[in-house]
Amino acid sequence: MELTLSIIKPDGVERNLVGKIISKFEDQGIRIAAIKKLQLTRAQAEAFYAVHKARPFFGELVEFMTRSPVVVMALQGENVIQRNRDIMGATNPAQAAAGTIRKDFAKSIGENTVHGSDSPEAAKNEVAFFFASSEIC
Ligand code: CMP
Repeated sequence: MELTLSIIKPDGVERNLVGKIISKFEDQGIRIAAIKKLQLTRAQAEAFYAVHKARPFFGELVEFMTRSPVVVMALQGENVIQRNRDIMGATNPAQAAAGTIRKDFAKSIGENTVHGSDSPEAAKNEVAFFFASSEIC
């Protein structure tokens, strides 16, 4: 069984979409192995998105991710890294398929409602970024 990290971003939490988004995962048989709500610090957001540091949108991304609380989850299931990405839809909501989280809820490429790990290595690192192994069950 794989694990992957999912973040419901500030725009999703602000609009009370947490339950609707979690339903999209649970309806597909994906388990919530760990979950918490937290206010990211600037240092946490910069560290989490360090891979994007050189991108022109990095400052905007950090501002957005620290604007208000997020909900972070470790999702568990078979092939869940790819399945989570399929359920989220394309990064740019304008290109996201019907029924995906980003098509249904996201406002723009910057405020795109959810994050999901994009590879097994990222999933391992990103789950460990937010959760101790004792918190995953
Ligand atoms: P995410 O999947 O969390 O990974 C990196 C994030 O950077 C991405 O979702 C978007 O929120 C953000 N991002 C990617 N491209 C752009 C862009 N062109 N402008 C603003 N934000 C972007």
